Amino acid sequence: MLVTEITAQSIDDALRKQLDSLDTSVESREVGTVIQVGDGIARIDGLKDAMAGELLEFTSSNGQTVYGMAQNLEEDEVGAVLLGDVTAIKENDQVKTTGRLVEIPVGPEMCGRVVNALGMPIDGKGPIHTVATRPVEFKAPGVISRQPVHEPMQTGILAVDSMIPIGRGQRELIIGDRQTGKTAIGIDAIINQKNEDMICIYVAIGQKASTVAGIYETLLKHGAMDYTIIVSATAADAAPLQFLAPMTGAAIGEYFVYNGKDGKPANAQNPGQHVLAIYDDLSKQAVAYRQMSLTLRRPPGREAYPGDIFYLHSRLLERAVKMSDEYGAGSLTALPIIETQAGDVGAYIPTNVISITDGQIFLQTDLFFQGQRPAINVGISVSRVGGSAQTKAMKQVAGTLRLDLAAYRELQAFTQFGSDLDKSTMQQLNRGARMTELLKQGRYTPMPFWEQALAIYTGNQGYLDDVAVEDVVRFRTELLDFVRASHKKVFEDLRSVGKWTDEIKAEANEAIEAFKKQFAPTASAE
Ligand SMILES: Nc1ncnc2c1ncn2[C@@H]1O[C@H](COP(=O)(O)OP(=O)(O)OP(=O)(O)O)[C@@H](O)[C@H]1O
Ligand SMILES: [Mg+2]
Repeated sequence: MLVTEITAQSIDDALRKQLDSLDTSVESREVGTVIQVGDGIARIDGLKDAMAGELLEFTSSNGQTVYGMAQNLEEDEVGAVLLGDVTAIKENDQVKTTGRLVEIPVGPEMCGRVVNALGMPIDGKGPIHTVATRPVEFKAPGVISRQPVHEPMQTGILAVDSMIPIGRGQRELIIGDRQTGKTAIGIDAIINQKNEDMICIYVAIGQKASTVAGIYETLLKHGAMDYTIIVSATAADAAPLQFLAPMTGAAIGEYFVYNGKDGKPANAQNPGQHVLAIYDDLSKQAVAYRQMSLTLRRPPGREAYPGDIFYLHSRLLERAVKMSDEYGAGSLTALPIIETQAGDVGAYIPTNVISITDGQIFLQTDLFFQGQRPAINVGISVSRVGGSAQTKAMKQVAGTLRLDLAAYRELQAFTQFGSDLDKSTMQQLNRGARMTELLKQGRYTPMPFWEQALAIYTGNQGYLDDVAVEDVVRFRTELLDFVRASHKKVFEDLRSVGKWTDEIKAEANEAIEAFKKQFAPTASAE
């Protein structure tokens, strides 16, 4: 008879064996329950350790997974926004924490595509095979890893590049009432990046889907979609998606800034890339955030916006950056857009964003209807840091242009009813009218800096003084064509030397004089 002796030792061994084979990896996922849901907001019980901004996984009664983002962390419940099929989630559905912040797919594979606020394609061109992801909220780099803005981000728009120059890594606000050409400036700037090695991100917030489709077609037609990604949360999308879209755009942009072309982290040896991000527009994001916050029952503040709306915009715009050489010197230039009501820049959201950005391009309805397009009010438009990024050739000719034009506007208003003006005043009015006219520019006609510099030089040197005001734009266009065709050395030299030398000035004078001889004034003009 076989007797197995049960000793203390054998019991101990058996237990040890069992313990060894035990899978001890612990998954710390909390499970909670939806206690209330509506308007894209869910209130959840039982998620004690959820983080602010954490990705939450909701499971509907029929097994569908919907993601959400934790927003309000209260003592006994969590308020979350639903990102996705809002209607699928009902009371008593399960919610799990994921231990991750909300992330989106990013990468160069997205170029040419239109994605939603979660980085998913919405252009019907099939899946995007991205490999990388980034958190939508990202702490902006500190001062040590940055350097001052010093390279130009040219928009190709004469009035902007000459008087309100923008540098790579800068934040320049485009602000104005409805239908004043705000979007047009952003789109023209994207089109002008064609040979600039710049990735462009256009974020459409709260616009009509048909408008976004139009923008896509325009960019495609001008060959700009090759280097552009559109992020779209339309007016029909839920408020949380409209709130998220600019941050998604920033996250997509950051991938290029923080990685070299090889997809590896940027550093002194592996240069980072350059990105232009346009947030069109942040007023609509603010409205979406207000709606979201009110449904989350956060206390309303000024104009019923939640108290942290300033922080929301500053967090976003601080992500615009010019990295130091050590980190690859990549840059993210941000052009946020804000819509004003009846030109009121003193309203809450406009003042906030003005104070966060490095300057603003102010567009005005009355100028727009007077035919001054782009309708930039030069008196109150500024770029606080872009001057150091402007090319020398432009700075030499446009140095005092902004102040001269502002002075002209004042003088014009002052002398409106006067008849006998002295010669020098007449001369100043004459010049001002022509310079103002010179800055008119249609859409989709970007000018490289050497053409812009020559155009302004022509005005400064008085070559336009005897050209009728209504002929100035035609004169400019034909002059540039003429120089391109028969005096292209002027442009080549300006481009390669980058500044005006006596030699280039002499060449330019010769070209302009030759052109003036053959220019035919319009018959109706005196
Ligand atoms: N430089 C320009 N020359 C001629 N037309 C222009 C120019 N800029 C804009 N426009 C025209 O003005 C209209 C309004 O432009 P745009 O849509 O850019 O304005 P917006 O301020 O973005 O308007 P919204 O408030 O509706 O977003 C468009 O029809 C556009 O084609
Ligand atoms: Mg617009």
